Amino acid sequence: MKIAGTGSALPKKVVTNDMLSEFLDTSDEWIRARTGVVSRYVISDEKLEDLAIEAAKKALDNAGMTASQLDFIICSNVVNEYVTPQLSCIIQGGIGATCPCIDINCACAGFIYAVEIAESFYKAGRVKNVLVVSAEEPTRMTDWTDRRTCVLFGDGAGAAVLTPGDNIKSIKLSASSATDKLWQYRLLHPTPYITKEEVDVPLQMKGQDVFKFAVKAAGKDISRILKDMGINADEVDHYLLHQANIRIIHAIRDYLEQPQEKFPTNIENHGNSSSSCCPILLDECNRKGLFKSGDLIAMSAFGAGFVSGAILFEW
Ligand SMILES: CC(C)(COP(=O)(O)OP(=O)(O)OC[C@H]1O[C@@H](n2cnc3c(N)ncnc32)[C@H](O)[C@@H]1OP(=O)(O)O)[C@@H](O)C(=O)NCCC(=O)NCCS
Repeated sequence: MKIAGTGSALPKKVVTNDMLSEFLDTSDEWIRARTGVVSRYVISDEKLEDLAIEAAKKALDNAGMTASQLDFIICSNVVNEYVTPQLSCIIQGGIGATCPCIDINCACAGFIYAVEIAESFYKAGRVKNVLVVSAEEPTRMTDWTDRRTCVLFGDGAGAAVLTPGDNIKSIKLSASSATDKLWQYRLLHPTPYITKEEVDVPLQMKGQDVFKFAVKAAGKDISRILKDMGINADEVDHYLLHQANIRIIHAIRDYLEQPQEKFPTNIENHGNSSSSCCPILLDECNRKGLFKSGDLIAMSAFGAGFVSGAILFEW
């Protein structure tokens, strides 16, 4: 397939590090130095599905396509207000499409997993045009009295329209179960028969373990896509990495021995918006005109599970 159009949508509320230090024992200096985040977009009165629909419409517009031309919609999402119906079905109605749709939860690597599903359906001859939307509100998962987690995240939606083409060169996915590193429990409704103890626990994270996993997984995934295509890191024009921590991005850059200008970032004013990071960054770079036709782009993301993946595609 090829990426024919991109779009994104953000909540209007911008929360700066200084605003966080008004109610948390933290500082702009600490957050900037340890994470690279300066501000983030946080949902206030918006509904996540509306941001997802807006991002999808912009991606269709950018691709010069209408919703009726879509054969499949995949939405990557970890959490939203609906348990059911799935977000992709709400997006389908919102944009006026009629095709089948599916939600996936692959944490921050969801966009890459979704593209792999789209590409596989395409190769099997099942679809031609696929809309992939990542819509995430991780700020609703964290404990806002926990300075170790809530400062990291922001909300938003990013989308891409995939159409027939030969531009996706390689995709590699991985997973390794490590459920005590990054997790959250939600309380389900009680029944008269529940006898086990149940708890509601906001997002818990072993930050340093996640950091180490992220650097290792991204290095490995990117090496695998490069090897698959028989190219070296120098031949890639842009590296679009999951925007979890600027120090993780720098560590991956150092591992690949590549110059900083190949690594566009937006973590500074977005934070980590889970699986939306990659498509939002892709859309921003696209709209800034950063990519030239024929540029080789490597995208890599990692997240809870652990799961991770990387794609190599030609613009
Ligand atoms: C979370 C993360 C930023 C913490 O950075 P770190 O350098 O590992 O910091 P540590 O956890 O060792 O904490 C160092 C100190 O800073 C403190 N600290 C943590 N968060 C703080 C904050 N927001 N403000 C001020 N101090 C903070 C800690 O309490 C600790 O203090 P102590 O030494 O007195 O106990 C970093 O580990 C990270 O980014 N991990 C990966 C997270 C990630 O990517 N998650 C999403 C994956 S999709």
